[in-house]
Amino acid sequence: TLAPAPSTCSLERFIHHYGDIFEHSPWVANAAWNEGLSEVHNTPDALADLMGRMLQQATPEQQIAVIQAHPDLAGKAALAGELTQDSSREQAGAGLDQCTPEEFSRFEQLNAAYKEKFGFPFVIAVKGLDRHAILAAFEARLHNDLMQERDAAIEQIIRIARFRLSVRAEQP
Ligand code: GUN
Repeated sequence: TLAPAPSTCSLERFIHHYGDIFEHSPWVANAAWNEGLSEVHNTPDALADLMGRMLQQATPEQQIAVIQAHPDLAGKAALAGELTQDSSREQAGAGLDQCTPEEFSRFEQLNAAYKEKFGFPFVIAVKGLDRHAILAAFEARLHNDLMQERDAAIEQIIRIARFRLSVRAEQP
C-alpha cells in the first residue's frame, strides 16, 4: 500500500507526496483530495482510479494542458537530462536513451509531425514497450483525428499515473 497513506494526509502533505503523479499538474491530486480520501484510497489502483476520474471529468482545455505538460519521447529535453525523475526512468526503461542516430531522427520527425497535426506532444505509457513498438504506435496514432487522440492521450496518461503509483507503493 501507499506510504504515506493518502487517507491520513493533509492537503499539503498529499500534494507534497502525490502532486507529481500527473506530470507538472498537481491540480489533479488537489481535486482528488477534495473528493474526500478514505482508507479505500490507500492502494495504488484505487487512488489511480480516483485521480483518473478527476482528469476524465476535467474540461477539454484542462485535459489538453495536462497532455502539453509532457516532454517529447526521445526528445531534446531527454537528451539534455531535463526530465522529471519519473519521465527519465520511464523513457530509459523503454530503451529510448539507446536509440541509434537514425531512430532519434525518426522520433524527431514524428514528434514534429504529431505536434503540427494535434498541437500537443505524443504521449504513450511506455511500460512493457520497446522503441520499435513505440514507433509503430506513434505512426498508427498519427492517423487519428483530434478528439480520438485527445482521448487516447488522456487514457495513456492515466495508465502512466497508475504505474507511477504502483512504483511508489513498492519503494516508499
Ligand atoms: N510516457 C511515459 N512517460 C512519458 C513521457 O515522459 N513523455 C511522453 N510523451 N510519454 C510518456
